[in-house]
Amino acid sequence: MNVNEILAQMTLEEKAAFCSGHDFWHTKSIERLGVPSVMMCDGPHGLRKQEGEGDHLGINKSIETVCYPTAAALASSFDRDVMRQLGDALGQECQAEDVAMLLGPGLNIKRSPLCGRNFEYFSEDPYLAGEMGAAYVQALQGQGIAACAKHFACNDQETLRMSGSSNLDERTLREIYLPAFEAVVKKGKTRSLMCAYNAINGTFCAENKALLTDILRDEWKSDAFVVTDWGAIKDRAKGTAAGLDLEMPGGPNATGEEIVEAVQSGTLSEADLDKAVLRLLQFVKDSVEQRRPDASIDRDACRKLARKLAGECAVLMKNEGGLLPLKEKQKAAFIGEFADKPRYQGAGSSHINVPHAVSALETAGDAVLYARGYDAHSDTTDEVLLNEAIDMAKKAEVAVIFAGLPDAFETEGADRDHMRLPDNQNELIAAVAAVNPNTVVVLHGGSPVELPWLAQVPAVLCVYLGGEQVGAATVDLLYGKVNPGGHLAETWPIRLQDNPSYLNFPGEEGIVTYAEGNYVGYRYYDKKEMPVNFCFGHGLSYTRFAYSNLRTDKEKMTDQDTLTVSVDVKNVGSVAGKTAVQLYVRDTESTVRRPVRELKAFEKAELQPGEMKTVTFVLDKRAFAYWEPKCHDFFVENGEFVVEIGESSRDIRASRSVRVEGTVVLPFTVTENTTIGQLLKHPKGKEIIGNMMRSSAMSHVDQTDTMGEGSERMMQGMMMGIQLGALVSYGRISRKQLKELIASLNA
Ligand code: GLC
Repeated sequence: MNVNEILAQMTLEEKAAFCSGHDFWHTKSIERLGVPSVMMCDGPHGLRKQEGEGDHLGINKSIETVCYPTAAALASSFDRDVMRQLGDALGQECQAEDVAMLLGPGLNIKRSPLCGRNFEYFSEDPYLAGEMGAAYVQALQGQGIAACAKHFACNDQETLRMSGSSNLDERTLREIYLPAFEAVVKKGKTRSLMCAYNAINGTFCAENKALLTDILRDEWKSDAFVVTDWGAIKDRAKGTAAGLDLEMPGGPNATGEEIVEAVQSGTLSEADLDKAVLRLLQFVKDSVEQRRPDASIDRDACRKLARKLAGECAVLMKNEGGLLPLKEKQKAAFIGEFADKPRYQGAGSSHINVPHAVSALETAGDAVLYARGYDAHSDTTDEVLLNEAIDMAKKAEVAVIFAGLPDAFETEGADRDHMRLPDNQNELIAAVAAVNPNTVVVLHGGSPVELPWLAQVPAVLCVYLGGEQVGAATVDLLYGKVNPGGHLAETWPIRLQDNPSYLNFPGEEGIVTYAEGNYVGYRYYDKKEMPVNFCFGHGLSYTRFAYSNLRTDKEKMTDQDTLTVSVDVKNVGSVAGKTAVQLYVRDTESTVRRPVRELKAFEKAELQPGEMKTVTFVLDKRAFAYWEPKCHDFFVENGEFVVEIGESSRDIRASRSVRVEGTVVLPFTVTENTTIGQLLKHPKGKEIIGNMMRSSAMSHVDQTDTMGEGSERMMQGMMMGIQLGALVSYGRISRKQLKELIASLNA
């Protein structure tokens, strides 16, 4: 299949039609030129393949297959190998089911706990999200299946997602909301991206040239094709000109006539259309060439993998007195409907048709007592269920409450109204904890919840939405067959009002102002030194880890160098375990707003009791840089930085300073509005200011004694804030002299 030859033979009408789907899940074929139709399906954590007539809302059942942990759980593994195992398995399954592209990973940032689709997204931290996404994409595409990084970009809520605009400044966009996509493009080499429904600063993603061409192709050098989210198209011709390639779902009425008219009227260049067609032909060609028609899938093996991955993702949040792991002989009561009917995935386009989700109850068998405790389809307490649960908790040595967000509380298409668990669950947990001091809470859900009973509960295990095998994995974790090694990929704030987006979520009439800027998640809570229930990166284990011998290969560097950081990690407990070694970087001398620290590297380490390993990281410029709008690039300021190694963002075990010199000089254009204070940072500024101070221009400055106490500080402040143009108003220099001064400074 020679894509250029095929393009050359295509008519304008064929080209235009080819840029829209055949139906919900297939591209168009071009029989006369031997171009087949290929299929794409949702993901991201399972194959949702609809047989026969496809539809958007999943009314038509999809095939029975395996549901893995969702992104919110997967990210908590802090383990790229977990993502690789998932990508491999899904890639094999797509080959077996003749699916050419899987619609994932979801890379939007968890700006607010209220986003209905948080279960489908990785983190509040773009570096973690990007690394996990890139590992998944590399593995999936290694099986010959295209990934489709979504939703590009700033689709961080469900409210008015199809018509709203995410409004944010350049630094915030570049430092928080694009880097995960950048990593999946540059490291993952994703073959496709899905543009989001929403607009960014008023320009819809489906026709956003800055996003789809200037950034994605010109700057990131991507040759991926861009498909719309389903129904995200606005102006078909404008989209093609902006860099959009494929409109989905398309269908029989999507003939591409608007594109034909636009080319014929000259408002769309055929060259732009050809680029889109070529990218789509390349996608089809790659899919055909990498197709393995003999592929098969062993779903029992997949279910075993799903159970293993769920165990890797769970986060042991609290474990006072070593209540966990439970002992086999302990009489345990499993309380809560989720023990019997686990909540393991979210509603919407990612919903997988699972023949049987394994519950904790069936896994534990007769060894445990069971009480339903609450009705998962209701918010109100059922007194009978509550009292039955309390009575049972009184008889048991340990009470394990399976709680979490019901389906109705978080879903694609709608954001959460609040951050609470259902009232009936909060009441149950408090009541059980009041009669049994050995109470464990197992949490299910895609996003943080408020924990009003936390002080009364000695142990909390978060399994997020852990996939169809989550019940089995939970029993493995509760009884110590698996040692929890997950770490939180998002902060769990004490209350919703503490979240930085609280005042601006979900916006008004579709206008969402990201007023918190880059202070998202821990970047905000740490800057505000705000208490939280559980911090970013937090995760306990049934063993403990000690860190020592943190060293770097240099103490001084430029932004063109790399820095190698090594640290020794030892398992100082009695059981094998895994931990997420996290590396944060702190800029101690920044002149611009920067978070206290930012995650810049991580590795999962598995250690036997007593075993010690050296973990090594290599940092480049990006570990120290921030996005500088003055040069529209990541920029490193001179100064002292601190490299920190931690078990979480607030459990820093070792740190080391390094001096970094930036080699880029920022453009500095002097104008009448440039202040004296700013001028001091100009290469020639000090000399100019010095001359001026000695001249009559600033003679009034020495009258500080007549202006009362503290006037020194006031004068200093005022002087630094004087703009050059004011010197003419003060009669200190002439306008001609000012123009000459500005010209000489800009020379
Ligand atoms: C949905 C979702 C997207 C999904 C697509 C196809 O609207 O936003 O994630 O892949 O449509 O179902």
